[in-house]
Amino acid sequence: MNRPVRVGVIGAGNIVQRLHLPTLCQLENVELTALAEANPERLRECVATFGFAQGHTDYQAMLDQGGLDAVLVAAPNVLHAPATIAALEAGCHVLVEKPMATSGADAQRMADVARAQGRTLTINLPRRFSGHYRAARALLDEGAAGQIYAANAAIVRRSGIPGYGSWFTTAALSGGGALLDVGVHILDVALWLLNEPRVLAVSATVGDRLGRAGRGLGRWGIDRAAVGTFDVEDSVNAQLRCADGLSITLEVSWAAYAPILHGVRLLGTEGGIVVDERRHLGGSVELHTDSSRGPTITQPEVSPESPPAGQQPLRGFIDSIRTGAPPPVPAEAGVRLARLCDAIYASARTGREVRLDESGAETGGMNA
Ligand SMILES: NC(=O)c1ccc[n+]([C@@H]2O[C@H](COP(=O)([O-])OP(=O)(O)OC[C@H]3O[C@@H](n4cnc5c(N)ncnc54)[C@H](O)[C@@H]3O)[C@@H](O)[C@H]2O)c1
Repeated sequence: MNRPVRVGVIGAGNIVQRLHLPTLCQLENVELTALAEANPERLRECVATFGFAQGHTDYQAMLDQGGLDAVLVAAPNVLHAPATIAALEAGCHVLVEKPMATSGADAQRMADVARAQGRTLTINLPRRFSGHYRAARALLDEGAAGQIYAANAAIVRRSGIPGYGSWFTTAALSGGGALLDVGVHILDVALWLLNEPRVLAVSATVGDRLGRAGRGLGRWGIDRAAVGTFDVEDSVNAQLRCADGLSITLEVSWAAYAPILHGVRLLGTEGGIVVDERRHLGGSVELHTDSSRGPTITQPEVSPESPPAGQQPLRGFIDSIRTGAPPPVPAEAGVRLARLCDAIYASARTGREVRLDESGAETGGMNA
């Protein structure tokens, strides 16, 4: 494409105002054509601040107007599937925020529509582009840790539950709590580091004790209020049994009476790799091995991110439209994550292990 990519945006909340619109404004070959935002005041402000040519409170009206090449979907989670499908059917390429959808079936439908329409569909999963995780992946690729047999992926916040009144804590709008909000990020990067291992079965529990008690509230949630619904999980503990004896443990908490934990630990036959992504500590990557001096820890060089990892999915999406290159994150990765989230919730609901078939869908057979 040798003219500017005409972009439409659905939802102009926190992530769009803080990250996506400033990123798009840095790109030369992009035109901010239209914004759809349900809150009229927010719509007016954003159209004026970022110079959109049009503003709509209804995303279908924006799509019906036409004239768009690409759409960024960043509205509450339950709108991801319908808004993405509508945009694809309007002939647009789509970047949808994580979680791709609130069910594996919806995610699969989105990927199918993209394929049928011949349009790009990608998901905003920025951890894959972080310097720390890229350094860990390089260690794995060179065999520094041998065969990985156990992994732990964790995001544990001390006090980070989105405020009451925001859609995040209302299941009818979010489709789920901590798992769909932050769990998908860390699970995705763990699976990416491990080269997408086949998951055979999932066993999980979820909890909501702190959220229901109004404890651990953080600053997130643009439409928060003093009171409101809280009917989602604030924590998840899951065990993913994978092929070749690999086990992945997922630990996610929006809030916990514990130190903050953000990272991945991989245990291998020749070494262990620990990525600590806590930003206030600068992050670190460690390779634990044995040497003639005994247990040894080395830290590989971490290349600076340029541009920052958070911007790379969106920049890569625009590049893929301009050049025809594959998108930064394939739609299949989002489908896979959505199916795993289905399995985690199903296991927590039933108290049983959920088995998955080769496509990652539930087999229907559950183990007590
Ligand atoms: N990839 C990441 O790192 C990352 C980070 C933060 C949020 N997110 C995702 O981005 C999405 C938005 O999150 P947020 O924190 O910006 O939420 P937010 O509540 O700040 O913003 C959502 C916006 O969507 C608007 N909206 C609601 N219904 C709409 C509709 N029908 N049409 C158009 N607009 C509508 C709301 O008015 C609000 O302005 C979520 O899916 C979230 O999971 C991703």
